[in-house]
Amino acid sequence: MARLPLIAAALLAFGDSVLGALQPCGKAQYDPTQYVCYDNQFLCPIIAGEPLSYCSGACYSKFQYQCVKNVLGVLPGVAAGTSFTLTVSNPTLPINGKFVTAGGLHLSLGGTTSSYCPTQVGSACPAGNITALAAGSYGGGLSMSTMVPGGQQVYLDPNWNLAYTQAHSAYIPSGSTVSGFAAYAGGGLVNLNGNGWGWVGCPPTASGGGGGVWNLVARNSSNAASLNNCTPVNLKVNTLPGGMYAWQYT
Ligand SMILES: *[C@@H]1O[C@H](CO)[C@@H](O)[C@H](O)[C@H]1NC(C)=O
Ligand SMILES: *[C@@H]1O[C@H](CO)[C@@H](O)[C@H](O)[C@H]1NC(C)=O
Repeated sequence: MARLPLIAAALLAFGDSVLGALQPCGKAQYDPTQYVCYDNQFLCPIIAGEPLSYCSGACYSKFQYQCVKNVLGVLPGVAAGTSFTLTVSNPTLPINGKFVTAGGLHLSLGGTTSSYCPTQVGSACPAGNITALAAGSYGGGLSMSTMVPGGQQVYLDPNWNLAYTQAHSAYIPSGSTVSGFAAYAGGGLVNLNGNGWGWVGCPPTASGGGGGVWNLVARNSSNAASLNNCTPVNLKVNTLPGGMYAWQYT
């Protein structure tokens, strides 16, 4: 997600010889793989593959903000209780457009949804073949879109992976973060913890036998350096009609 609230528009990319073919933006030179030029005078960076938009002197991400009559504001939050899926957004990655998927009590990028329906519930269970989350209050908690009594709470585990509680259990490891999530209508899921460092996708390692499934990690100032093999991504919110989408995720 956007590592901003606001990035001042006056970002100038100087004529650095390591960069590719530079282009003029007014009097400045910029690398079009890193920046986008508005009105031949304003440069905004490309972050997580998203050329940031421009609004009255500020660059912004459409996953979190909107520009209405030249005034920048946050997007409205998804109503609490509404279910939604998440898709990866970063056009530079092979997992662009793939779903965030539940499995092994954590959320990954581009995997297969793991869910369970008790036999005694049977046909009353939702299909459980897509991974859906349910919005909490703005900036508050988040849960999985499940029917199991007690629900399944979503949290950042101590390694800042996005995890969820096991059905029938409230156990959350100490050092986890249970609030500070915002799902924006028409935008993305944003981790408001950690000053806007955003999400990254980490490719499967050869030894991990990842099967094309990428890890999802929330960055912050202290873990960012250790995640340099990972790439920033936005998580696009796709709201769903009412109801829950699984009995429980496993
Ligand atoms: C989920 O299962 C339902 C019912 O079996 C099916 O109609 C639907 O196409 C499936 N969706 C996905 C994404 O697999
Ligand atoms: C950043 O994430 C790491 C886990 O990767 C966590 O240990 C640390 O406490 C977090 N830092 C902040 C400032 O929240």
